[in-house]
Amino acid sequence: MTCFDRTRETADLWKQFNEGRNLLMLAPRRIGKTVLLNRLRDMAADRGFRAVILDVEGYREEKDFFRQCCAAIQEELSTGAKVMTALGDRLSRVFKGRAEGAGDWRQWLLQTDWREFADHLLAHLDDHAGEPPWLILVDELPVFLQALQHRDGDRAIGDFLYWLRNMRQKYRRVRWLYTGSIGLDSIARRHGVEGALNDLEPFPLSPFDRPTALDFLVDIARRRECELDQAAGEIILQRLGWLSPYYLEKIAEDACTQAGPGGKVDAARAGAAMDNMLDLGKRTYWSTWREHLDRNFPEPERSRLYAVLNAVTRDAAGATGDTLIGALNRGGGEAVGQVELRSLLDTLLADGYLEVNLEGEARRYRFRMNLLREWWLRYVVL
Ligand SMILES: Nc1ncnc2c1ncn2[C@@H]1O[C@H](COP(=O)(O)OP(=O)(O)O)[C@@H](O)[C@H]1O
Ligand SMILES: [Mg+2]
Repeated sequence: MTCFDRTRETADLWKQFNEGRNLLMLAPRRIGKTVLLNRLRDMAADRGFRAVILDVEGYREEKDFFRQCCAAIQEELSTGAKVMTALGDRLSRVFKGRAEGAGDWRQWLLQTDWREFADHLLAHLDDHAGEPPWLILVDELPVFLQALQHRDGDRAIGDFLYWLRNMRQKYRRVRWLYTGSIGLDSIARRHGVEGALNDLEPFPLSPFDRPTALDFLVDIARRRECELDQAAGEIILQRLGWLSPYYLEKIAEDACTQAGPGGKVDAARAGAAMDNMLDLGKRTYWSTWREHLDRNFPEPERSRLYAVLNAVTRDAAGATGDTLIGALNRGGGEAVGQVELRSLLDTLLADGYLEVNLEGEARRYRFRMNLLREWWLRYVVL
């Protein structure tokens, strides 16, 4: 996956790593976090770092986390294999007589407590004697925390987050960047463990700006031997509204498929490609937006989030707080007040569904991505 642009972001990230900061990048799914992490890893050697990516989605326990960490280091091109051999030797000395087995790190990971193992691993990475510092890029940390919670209950989240924080304090030469598509900050707040994140610098990742989005569309078309004109680009940007690389790419690809090699993507083709995005056959493009609500929010919060979104959808101009309170309390049940509404809106703003516009004193909430509103209207609202 080649990473288009993100020049300003990567420059800023390297600056922060050089200043010794550890970062937390929370942004909605498919905005380009994983692509950006890969870009960072590929640039690392030039920037004087050794970087590994841990994709922790799908892991269930701490040992998986560190097995993946070790495996990624082993594959790191500059010194990874050497570092892991040395770690094996180090562990053999430390654990001598305490466990059976050879000097391979895998054996020690199996046979020892993960905390002890990981502490030695991080001490080893911290102690880099003249080599570039390590940068650990952890992708989708909140998903892993949810797996821990599933296994061990609520305490697991705080336990692991505080343990990580301790390691960051203890081994200050190892740099960390965590990403998440689920609001890790709101999970931490819900469990009263915000303190475990308070040493991390938030790094917001935005969608593309207009010029970048236009260049991106033209670039995709060019790779497919098509030509995308200015008017087509404008139409796509206008109707999409929120310039997520993922949706830009899907639309441009569809338009190019219609145009065929050597073809032209004009305004009409662009419009048709956007209509196609709303076909039922393309529902996987959109399913994450519903899944996010269905998976990550317990009732009654989930139904309330849907109620807010459904109410917002009805008017292209968006909805005011009063309209939303009305919609939330229409069905009877426990009354929903301003404080609760505030919290629902904070979630939907942070997770990329809504944006807010100020109209004099009044705030108006609208879908951030026009095309998502069109989808919601067609398939979700009853
Ligand atoms: N900078 C970029 N350049 C090119 N394509 C991108 C870029 N960012 C995102 N994309 C496209 O969007 C898709 C989703 O990006 P991804 O990094 O997987 O999102 P996230 O990790 O935030 O869920 C990618 O597979 C790619 O097709
Ligand atoms: Mg990702």
